[in-house]
Amino acid sequence: MTGGNRGIGLEVCRQLSRRKLRVILTARDEAHGREAQAKLKSEQLEVRFELLDVSSRESIARCAQRLTADRIEVDILINNAGIYGTTTLLDTSPKDTDAMLTTNLLGALWCCQTFMPGMNQRGYGRIVNVSSGLGSITPSPRGSGPYALSKAALNLMTQLLAKEARTDIKINSVNPGWVKTRMGGTGAPRSVEEGADTIVWAATLPADGPHGQFLEDRKIRSW
Ligand SMILES: NC(=O)c1ccc[n+]([C@@H]2O[C@H](COP(=O)([O-])OP(=O)(O)OC[C@H]3O[C@@H](n4cnc5c(N)ncnc54)[C@H](OP(=O)(O)O)[C@@H]3O)[C@@H](O)[C@H]2O)c1
Repeated sequence: MTGGNRGIGLEVCRQLSRRKLRVILTARDEAHGREAQAKLKSEQLEVRFELLDVSSRESIARCAQRLTADRIEVDILINNAGIYGTTTLLDTSPKDTDAMLTTNLLGALWCCQTFMPGMNQRGYGRIVNVSSGLGSITPSPRGSGPYALSKAALNLMTQLLAKEARTDIKINSVNPGWVKTRMGGTGAPRSVEEGADTIVWAATLPADGPHGQFLEDRKIRSW
């Protein structure tokens, strides 16, 4: 789980851990990650913490090396880490555009490039790319340009990678809906539990489940 220290990511870690899966909660900030790990421990849920900044290929590689050293194979990858912005494409600085595309798109791609080959070799894997309703190719409201671009590209990346999957691999993107988190704000209609639901479902799909799709409320949606 990337960006597992708060919001939807933390809730997905909680729900998967309750299902007795061995969860690796990753975060880009060690103190925040350890805090989230301790919070789950206080709920009798044991998760492993790993430092992982998705915007750094080196950070992803180091995390993968530590897992390999401990003989841990990643069967489920949830690319959840994300940042949001409301500016248009023309009004966003190059630096902020880079940050958005690196975190929301390239970070997810690099994690897939790191962990998906092992899934292909072992013949099993589930990958969930946490997307957004704004990642649609139908016109979205003005604003949030780089964010919408990053999520639409994430949806296409999901479709493309689905074609590179062998045997029992399921890779899908999920729209969690508008969720009450630091990103979604207090006015959002959905709780984190509701936002996490389809992500957890997609992470634990059976062999005949959807593949290469954009999912919302446990259903395939066009985008
Ligand atoms: N909330 C919504 O209404 C909504 C709607 C549609 C889609 N989504 C998507 O759902 C996902 C989770 O969103 P959320 O609402 O839970 O947001 P959030 O509360 O803002 O949490 C975002 C998480 O991503 C982490 N993150 C950001 N940049 C990172 C990086 N470079 N490396 C590792 N982690 C990083 C944050 O870590 P720090 O604590 O260190 O910042 C935090 O853990 C995102 O992909 C978002 O786009 C959310």
